Amino acid sequence: MIDLLQDLLSIRVVQLVLSWTVALVTIVFLIGLSMSWSNIRGAPWVPTPIGTVHDMLQLADVGHRDVVYDLGCGDGRLIVAAARKYGARAVGIEVDPMRFLWCQLLITVLGLRSRVTVRFGDLFKHDVSEATAVMVYLLPDTNRRLQHKLVSELPAEAQIVAHSFTMPALEEVTSIESPELYLYRPVMSAKGEATPSPERAGREDQGQQDRQP
Ligand SMILES: C[S@@+](CC[C@H](N)C(=O)[O-])C[C@H]1O[C@@H](n2cnc3c(N)ncnc32)[C@H](O)[C@@H]1O
Repeated sequence: MIDLLQDLLSIRVVQLVLSWTVALVTIVFLIGLSMSWSNIRGAPWVPTPIGTVHDMLQLADVGHRDVVYDLGCGDGRLIVAAARKYGARAVGIEVDPMRFLWCQLLITVLGLRSRVTVRFGDLFKHDVSEATAVMVYLLPDTNRRLQHKLVSELPAEAQIVAHSFTMPALEEVTSIESPELYLYRPVMSAKGEATPSPERAGREDQGQQDRQP
């Protein structure tokens, strides 16, 4: 009898260990898949430090009349701050399913669903024309591809704040060095389709490898 109980117990333990292992491997696989998916799409997830979140929103002088878009909204910190601290309406677009779900949970728990929306999918496929302020923390190549979309969709008075990497074809209003932020209007600069100077492009491409957002 005791032998039988011991056998049953050890079978149960093996079953438990096996199911926990499968669950763990699945979670690790999903996290890896999710991270590489965002990377392939435009940038990996690297959160903007909270202090810089406020620097970005203040650089665009965001207030309660604004509609703030964060293109690649990560864990939702920027859209949440835009709504809670600056009274704006905010929209985040996120391609990473896990972060999208996290953002949905966050805005629900914080009671922000009436002022904050999170959309799932590729930011290049979403219309951004209602935005008065657009925040981006992506990669140099993604920024370069994005600038044409911003010029064609945004009203000319909208503001664009780029963190860490420039949008070389846009008209720069101002920039600050630390944290590295650029404020643009959605208008082609005098150089129009300007490609960055070889020096700047080299610096940014190097920066892309070093900083890897
Ligand atoms: C560097 S993180 C910035 C996150 C957030 N904006 C912040 O400042 O904390 C870039 C985010 O963009 C998302 N992303 C990358 N490519 C995207 C795409 N094509 N469409 C939507 N989101 C994208 C990534 O999943 C990641 O969460």
